[in-house]
Amino acid sequence: MPSPPHPFRIGLGHDTHRLGPGDGLLLGGVRIPHDRSAIGHSDADVLLHAITDAILGAAALGDIGEMFPDTLEANRGRNSGEMLQAAAARLAAAGWALGNLDCVIFAQRPKILPHRERIRASIAGLLGIDVEAVGLKAKTGEGVGPIGEENAISAECVALVVRRA
Ligand code: CDP
Ligand code: ZN
Repeated sequence: MPSPPHPFRIGLGHDTHRLGPGDGLLLGGVRIPHDRSAIGHSDADVLLHAITDAILGAAALGDIGEMFPDTLEANRGRNSGEMLQAAAARLAAAGWALGNLDCVIFAQRPKILPHRERIRASIAGLLGIDVEAVGLKAKTGEGVGPIGEENAISAECVALVVRRA
């Protein structure tokens, strides 16, 4: 006999962008002054991209690159907040509500902690969830590899979704 549908599902998202000389980073929809910037077809918000993929993954709805191909001119410079909200709308349409997120930013610099509360509030606002449901941590690359040498920035996110009644 088939088992009843599970009331909870989890999703995992990961993203990496190259870094180059610049004037700041967009992380979770918040602009953080810095001497490098992330390079990408869209606005290169690595954290929102990881969250978007975690949400889509939880409901097995594919990934951000399928929804917004980087081969499409229309997606150049696209606002990642809009992409996240489009993914959240698909999640809701598939019968799931977002429970919580836990995210990690991998960056040698800048320090994320001083900006953490603003970033959490921005993500919660984009998704219409409580800020308490948005965990955010940061790790350096310990000075080694593409993260440590400041050639790349990455982010990861897990999302819990709850079946709607
Ligand atoms: O100490 P540990 O090796 O676990 O971590 P780390 O990568 O050396 O980072 C030390 C602390 O700095 C982390 O726990 C974060 O709270 C903070 N951090 C940050 O605010 N911004 C970053 N880009 C990296 C780390
Ligand atoms: Zn990305």
